[in-house]
Amino acid sequence: MSYIYFDQAASSFPKPPKVGEAVLEAITEYGANPGRGGHTLAVRANDVIFNTRKKLAMMFGERNPDNVCFYLNATQALNQAIQGIQFEEGDHVISTSFEHNSVRRPLERLKETKAIKVSYIEPKVNGQTLLELVEQQINEKTKAVVVSHGSNVTGTILPVEEIGKITKQHGILFIVDASQTAGILPIHMTDMNIDILAFPGHKGLMGPQGTGVLIIKEHVDLVPLIYGGTGSHSEDIHQPLKRPERFESGTLNTPGIAGLLAGIEEINSIGLDHIYEHEAKLTTYCIGKLSEIEGIRMFGPGLNEPRLAVISFTIEGIDVHEAAMILDQHYHIAVRAGLHCSPLTHSIMGTNQVGTIRVSFGLYNTIEEIDRFIEAIKEIKSFF
Ligand code: ALA
Repeated sequence: MSYIYFDQAASSFPKPPKVGEAVLEAITEYGANPGRGGHTLAVRANDVIFNTRKKLAMMFGERNPDNVCFYLNATQALNQAIQGIQFEEGDHVISTSFEHNSVRRPLERLKETKAIKVSYIEPKVNGQTLLELVEQQINEKTKAVVVSHGSNVTGTILPVEEIGKITKQHGILFIVDASQTAGILPIHMTDMNIDILAFPGHKGLMGPQGTGVLIIKEHVDLVPLIYGGTGSHSEDIHQPLKRPERFESGTLNTPGIAGLLAGIEEINSIGLDHIYEHEAKLTTYCIGKLSEIEGIRMFGPGLNEPRLAVISFTIEGIDVHEAAMILDQHYHIAVRAGLHCSPLTHSIMGTNQVGTIRVSFGLYNTIEEIDRFIEAIKEIKSFF
């Protein structure tokens, strides 16, 4: 029985064949150190890295490719963004209850080390919208707003464009975690007033794991978290000011970035609107089928609201981890169960004690796979 992969929110799989080919080519044909030496292979490696920066800058509405910095994953990129801000005691940050631990934990750490204050906004409190709540929470000490563009638990899409208008009006730094949306929804940093954008290369962008990106607008001054060799300005005992070197000490993941470039080219040739449309069709279909099964409780946006291809649900009377284990072992279907590293979201949904089963779809998933999954859920239900 073929294996069904419904854990695209954790990492996209399979990748377009070109991605694997590009990784292999980097390893076997030009595996030199980019930016460390002027020889032919180092220059070739560097060209691939630069082309990837250029493609990413263009895709995300940033003029200067040098402001595109590579990290191992979105978590590291977000840590650089959040912990790189020069906070003073009493500074205030606004965030949301949709955040992943890669935003929440650095913020909690800064509460301890820098005595900052953080407000986590919950959606629709007393009938007020998220935008009204952001506006309401802003005070003279508010230095940054950090939000997830899309929830990895519920698939909720947050109104980053509108939040960007508010932060711009108040002169507050706007950081967006696009872990679930890069490569799926259009993001234009300049038009959306996003100052710092972080995302992984291995989810919607179809690159290999070990690739993450931080795009830092020219006017934003961050303190680097990592210091070391940058392949340039070696005589200087200080970290260079020049980007991207300022934020990229140590050898980059050239094979991973080469694969990322192939992934970006593939999704650009398909088109983000087609990808979103395909994923939306699968999501709507799956929600419809799940809602016909008694004892299934789904969380997140309603059927007609825009959302990502992520569905969280519980099955009455069945432990979420046990259900995920049966789906994997018996039905060969990969899902993720638990809190999905976003405990605040589960607190809001009332599932922080039990968690949920999460299915998430991607480019290569099909309606037939969903049919097999629905049959599996029905059978599992009948056993308990
Ligand atoms: N953040 C990833 C997920 O939601 C790993 O599964």
